[in-house]
Amino acid sequence: MARRGHLPSQSKSNGLEGISLDLRDEMINIENQFNVTSEKLKRISERFEEELREGLEKEGSNLSMNVTWVLGLPTGDETGSYVTIDLGGTNLRVCLVSLKGQREEIDIKQQACRLPPTIKTGDAETLWDFIVDSLEEFLKKHQLTANRNDRLPLGFCFSYPASQDYIDHGKLKTWTKGFDIDGVEGEDAAGQLRDALAKRGLPLELVALVNDTTGAMIASAYKDPDTIIGAIFGTGCNAAYVENVGSIPKLKTSLPPETPMAINCEYGAFGNAHCVLPRTKYDIIIDDQSPRPGEQTFEKMSAGLYLGEIFRLVALDLYEKGLIFTGQNASKLKEPYILETGLLSALENDPLEACRIRLEECLGIKVTLDETRVAHRLAEIVATRGARLCACGIAAICRMKGITSGHVAADGTVANKHPKFKERWTEALGEILDWPKDRREDPIILTSAEDGSGIGAAVISAMTLYRIHGGNTDGIQAR
Ligand code: GLC
Repeated sequence: MARRGHLPSQSKSNGLEGISLDLRDEMINIENQFNVTSEKLKRISERFEEELREGLEKEGSNLSMNVTWVLGLPTGDETGSYVTIDLGGTNLRVCLVSLKGQREEIDIKQQACRLPPTIKTGDAETLWDFIVDSLEEFLKKHQLTANRNDRLPLGFCFSYPASQDYIDHGKLKTWTKGFDIDGVEGEDAAGQLRDALAKRGLPLELVALVNDTTGAMIASAYKDPDTIIGAIFGTGCNAAYVENVGSIPKLKTSLPPETPMAINCEYGAFGNAHCVLPRTKYDIIIDDQSPRPGEQTFEKMSAGLYLGEIFRLVALDLYEKGLIFTGQNASKLKEPYILETGLLSALENDPLEACRIRLEECLGIKVTLDETRVAHRLAEIVATRGARLCACGIAAICRMKGITSGHVAADGTVANKHPKFKERWTEALGEILDWPKDRREDPIILTSAEDGSGIGAAVISAMTLYRIHGGNTDGIQAR
């Protein structure tokens, strides 16, 4: 099993004794390329902190550090019913969220569908029509009606880098997570959705555009006052935290300097200058073949969309060198993105024979038990590096803010579904932050913000409406 700062040694206990010497040498070579030592983690995290600070300092920095106009954390007493829509990397989800206040249970009705690939690479009109269709169907199904003067509040979770002049506005900088839809980059995504809703005459009022990281933080803080950060370890990788307005030099505002402001870091873009992240040739291939080469360097090495693809590229390399699946036509292994990150979770979780069968199904070839052990090891190597890198961003925020304890509310498939992510992430965080090895408890804990996008968008909509009613309309455009 992976120990602090080191991948498991090649010596005795990794079950690879039966494989050829050439393959064993190659595995050592791969391990070395993917190994991120404690020292390297610290160096990455230091550079991370510099990029976070630069992003707060000036517009146009590598990390956007977007102000969100979410002014602090919720009290937990927010109430009301809100429709939310969540355009994530994989699914589109519509929810009706009823908040009951007093940090109580929240009632949710929801409808989700997988985003068709044609939407992800189509045009703006098709995207908004698809979203409005889903909303219309949902409103009908739940008999949600309102008159024109009393429209239902809508929170829009838009998990892409959008700069926000207002909470109900979001100018998309660039698509991430493999999206490539014409006509939205450089435009206000909230405005485009608002227009599409008006065209269809739906009784909804877009109150807030919310990043999923901010959503995770706020949803969690609604129930858990120890929340310090919201993070997504899913298709993409990013985090949000609360800054003081006075520590955001690029923000010109009349708000008092001590006003809290949630920041969406957009730190999937960390390391775009390629000076600190230990990129392998596989990472370079992924970047070159992506719709936006040169962008989201950190995300492409650590997030769920890419882990399966990194694994595939390494396995393909072994196959092309004649070291695995010899004499077989492994053409499926040549198909980009055919292996999902769920396969990596299964390889680390399931019994060997079940893994062997699953690999045969995915690849359409015969797989031996030794090859299954090799695949297990590769899954471990790729996922371990991902989890360790993921700790660097959170450590950097904690160091910058002087945070020493609290809860990091995490959402996303890697955080929620990978059997070893949490353990590896925590271990790496401890290495970077020099936690004592014999500690009884971890001072910073990864908690689950499952459904952060829906609940978070609802709580933020509530906070926004409360602000409007209280006459505090800083950073609110509509009305
Ligand atoms: C990508 C997006 C970011 C989002 C993250 C997690 O990095 O740019 O906005 O928070 O994925 O979904």
